[in-house]
Amino acid sequence: MKVLVVGGGGREHAILWALSKSPKVSQLYCAPGNGGIAALAECVPIKATDVAAMVSWAKENAMDFVVVAPDDPLALGMVDALEEAGIPAFGPRANAAIVESSKIFSKELMAKYHIPTAKYQSFTDLDEALAYIRREGAPIVVKADGLALGKGVVVAQTVAEAEEAARSMMADGKFGAAGSRVVIEECMTGPEVTVLCFTDGEHLSPMPPSRDHKRAYDGDKGPNTGGMGAISPAPGYTPEIARRCMEEIFRPTIDALRAEGRPFRGVLYFGLMLTPDGPKVVEYNARFGDPECQAVLSLLESDLMEIFLACRNGTLDQLDVRWTDGAACCLVLASGGYPGKYETGLPITGLEEAGRTAVVFHAGTKRGEDGQILTSGGRVLGVTATADTLEAAIQKAYESAGAISFPDMHFRTDIGRTV
Ligand code: AMP
Ligand code: GLY
Repeated sequence: MKVLVVGGGGREHAILWALSKSPKVSQLYCAPGNGGIAALAECVPIKATDVAAMVSWAKENAMDFVVVAPDDPLALGMVDALEEAGIPAFGPRANAAIVESSKIFSKELMAKYHIPTAKYQSFTDLDEALAYIRREGAPIVVKADGLALGKGVVVAQTVAEAEEAARSMMADGKFGAAGSRVVIEECMTGPEVTVLCFTDGEHLSPMPPSRDHKRAYDGDKGPNTGGMGAISPAPGYTPEIARRCMEEIFRPTIDALRAEGRPFRGVLYFGLMLTPDGPKVVEYNARFGDPECQAVLSLLESDLMEIFLACRNGTLDQLDVRWTDGAACCLVLASGGYPGKYETGLPITGLEEAGRTAVVFHAGTKRGEDGQILTSGGRVLGVTATADTLEAAIQKAYESAGAISFPDMHFRTDIGRTV
């Protein structure tokens, strides 16, 4: 099969790496791809959000299957457009991807179907939002309704901080239209776990639990990022908690979306908090997490292409999805200054040496004229190691990453060691 993966980050590199092991796949393409992906797939210079260009290219080049990995093309209806053009695609249609693109939609869905989550109210009027914040007190959480690159959430420790967040989203237009409506919710406590589930709209198959580290600096300090590293399995996610999540959260969510006429096919991302009152939903995403995907897919034993086909065709129940018993750690090497301003075009060395003990997924890289790999984004590489135990996987990822360097390289030294 000729398969196109849409996107160009570490997550897409990991998906392509797993697909490249499938006997079903004959040729891989990626749009737009990156410097490392180019070693596995032919990169096509089309922006991930250009739905019309992507569909025409896939049609003209006779793709047998397209995997839409990032959130924005899913929200824009790329899967709908591909399927309508007769090209089988993996990922939810826009009417199901809304679980990520509208937090208000998700909160209403959870309320209607009694799925445990933080108590909330949604607002379009700033004064009403401010009054609610003052009434509820701090700590309190303020969230922009729409997609805001993972940065539209403020966990406010004081009423003043929450007021400021609501003002900047609703009055100053910090996130444009995405922030004109906000959700204000109760602040929950407890360890966070991500569970990615494959689903065909009816059946579901949870992947091993994972945990990402969103803050830029050690000790979970500093600004939120796309994710500075991930481990899998996440400690603390016991079989008993897994059973409760399946009964109280995963199955009810899949059933609710189907009942609403929005069957979800693809990967549904459950961001969970294990609170003293039991597991609750922090957020849904409509796709694999990045960098959770890199850690989790390195534990997959089954053929990813077969899983994608089963999700698309409604036959996931006939498949036995197998995982190794081991553990994985993905350590992100970022540009100095990320998530703020950073330089690009800097040469990276040591990739080959690191690649002997770990898989180095590329995120923000490009190939220079002489073939040299250069930095081209905030998150540059995801050094991913597997081992029998989590501690050994973490150690191996750090050791392997030690071989790599580029000017101003920044990474956290405590991935997998904080909750
Ligand atoms: P989100 O983009 O909704 O996942 O939020 C980003 C991060 O903010 C989460 O990973 C949590 O660490 C934190 N967060 C979001 N909602 C809450 C909440 N209700 N209580 C406590 N922390 C939260
Ligand atoms: N790592 C979090 C996300 O992909 O949303």
